[in-house]
Amino acid sequence: MLPYLDENDVVIDGGNEFFENTERRAKALMEKKRIHLVGMGISGGASGARRGPSLMPGCTPHAWQALRPVLESMSAKVEGRPMVTHVGLGGAGHFVKMVHNGIEYAEMQFLAEAYALLRAQGMGNEEMGSVFRGWNEDGSDLQSYLMEISSKILTFPDDRPQGGDEGYLIDKVLDAAGSKGTGKWTVQCAADLGIAAPCISAALEARFVSSDVDLRRRMQDLFSSVCPAPPTAGQEMDGEGEARPKLAVQTVADALLFARICAYAQGLHVIHSANQERGWGVDLTSVASVWQGGCIIRAKLLEVIVSCLKESPSEANLLLIPEFAKRASALQHSAREVVVHCVLGKIAAPALCAAVTYYDGIGRARGPANLIQAQRDYFGAHTYARLDAEGKFHTEWS
Ligand code: 6PG
Repeated sequence: MLPYLDENDVVIDGGNEFFENTERRAKALMEKKRIHLVGMGISGGASGARRGPSLMPGCTPHAWQALRPVLESMSAKVEGRPMVTHVGLGGAGHFVKMVHNGIEYAEMQFLAEAYALLRAQGMGNEEMGSVFRGWNEDGSDLQSYLMEISSKILTFPDDRPQGGDEGYLIDKVLDAAGSKGTGKWTVQCAADLGIAAPCISAALEARFVSSDVDLRRRMQDLFSSVCPAPPTAGQEMDGEGEARPKLAVQTVADALLFARICAYAQGLHVIHSANQERGWGVDLTSVASVWQGGCIIRAKLLEVIVSCLKESPSEANLLLIPEFAKRASALQHSAREVVVHCVLGKIAAPALCAAVTYYDGIGRARGPANLIQAQRDYFGAHTYARLDAEGKFHTEWS
């Protein structure tokens, strides 16, 4: 396109591009011809495209000023407020959209795990659909777009019944999750920054596990032949694991909200850290507020997140904000109950488990990594720091 562009022209890349490519291209176009590349995250799927998406442009202030009226007019609106903000410079918009998708992966996995759990408790599709609908009602803290579509999916009739076998479409869908790369990038970028995002990585890995259907089928056959699990006395097998005393629906709801809190804390922490490293000028409050409408992860919880961030805009992790920490703390017991229930009942719930272990790990001032440091120093003289003295130390442990 370069030969056809003039100085100060603005070019928008509205795909899910990897932010490093955007950084490189924006710099090269600016240097070559003073052309402004806008790396714009766009979320909302097909209906967002028709009715207004959430827009996350990363660009120069010049490009933002040029585009602002157009973007504000085409974006989704929440109480008249356009779901677009100037995210920051260079690849900031694509980075923020990538993390949006990482949180999306975690949220989808939490819902899939809740579905597995309720199904293992013997709930049918209608009942599960109505539970999810209840969780999405006005006033429910769990309200979200993904909750809404999941409630509809659960009770959607099969549109291609084979041989008169009617029923629900969801029961005929192959349980192998695809992915196009943004979740993987989020995990890779979080690792590059040294920031933990375990709910997002658990969700990504759960997709990998799901996608090898043949392997899972062979494993199930082998596992049940080498070690048939004896049903617990007085209880029936439920097909997914050993039946366990049922969990209250409210306990599952609380665990889901707890997990959502952890996923947002992780995702926003990744953005905070990238922004510090790159100097993009990202304002987390504005990012969270353009996720309130139009995008796939829009959720009621974002109201709380936005108001917490307004109070403490520079905190690296949401869980350091007292109001947020208080909410997580009130829900943690339910999350633990759900995780224990899943582990004992052989219901794979990696993302919910990751939420609890993340919370326990970051919430402990003294963890067990002193042993890891000592091991590293023992076998590789990697040195360690001491609690009671400045500097680096090495010991001849043997
Ligand atoms: C959105 C979606 C969109 C796309 C995902 C799907 O915000 O509108 O996130 O970007 O549907 O890329 O990602 P996977 O194919 O990796 O699930």
